[in-house]
Amino acid sequence: MSPSHPTELSGYAEKLIRGRRATRAFRPDPVPEETLRAVFALAGAAPSSSNTQPWQVEVVSGSLRDRLADALQAAHAEQRTTVDFPYHEDMYSIAQQRRRAAFGTALYGALGIGRNDHAARAAFDAESLRFYGAPHVAFLFTAGDAGARLAADVGIYTQTLLLAMTAYGLDSCPQGLLSFYADTVRGELGLDRGKLLVGISFGYADESAPVNHITTDRAALDATTTFRC
Ligand SMILES: Cc1cc2nc3c(=O)[nH]c(=O)nc-3n(C[C@H](O)[C@H](O)[C@H](O)COP(=O)(O)O)c2cc1C
Repeated sequence: MSPSHPTELSGYAEKLIRGRRATRAFRPDPVPEETLRAVFALAGAAPSSSNTQPWQVEVVSGSLRDRLADALQAAHAEQRTTVDFPYHEDMYSIAQQRRRAAFGTALYGALGIGRNDHAARAAFDAESLRFYGAPHVAFLFTAGDAGARLAADVGIYTQTLLLAMTAYGLDSCPQGLLSFYADTVRGELGLDRGKLLVGISFGYADESAPVNHITTDRAALDATTTFRC
């Protein structure tokens, strides 16, 4: 194996990958259509199994975005949830639960919401169904009636899209919460197929919002990655 050294791209990759972060307060300014098309065209360069590209991407803006936010909040209030990819609290290990708790402390701390203020936390979650004020939201589905395995391809597309957005100066927040209302999303978009993996709210960050300045650390390399030979 030849030795690997940083290349011309390494510095850009460090900046791009580490420069992306989840944004939870947006300005209302829409993204120009030309930029939208460039970003989603770039995201389409994501790899997939046998180049099948099994994603279905729905980008929602304008009055449809507003109607969808209303419909999501109504579904939430009436507890009308549908998930295409099941979620279980107990799927997280103790270490993962600790990371989640640390993240929650940082997030709710920045929002001024106390540890045991469950009502305020719930209100924040409900409000997040308005896409944190973002003018656009992209819904990422596995195409057709695909099985769970295709979630890997769509997950890879997801990160490629997030990085493409960062590269074009857009801010974003992947929102798993949106996927709990899969039927509502399909209904409002007039879709009868596709399994909803995640929604991504995007636009331009409101830099004055403290919630946009939380920092999230990462586990040490050795905690998640083993090098064997
Ligand atoms: C699959 C997925 C689902 C997520 N769901 C939500 C969500 O529902 N609401 C939210 O505010 N952030 C959500 N996030 C953002 C994560 O909280 C965030 O990526 C994580 O805390 C790391 O922070 P960073 O993105 O700023 O590096 C989600 C991220 C991913 C990848």
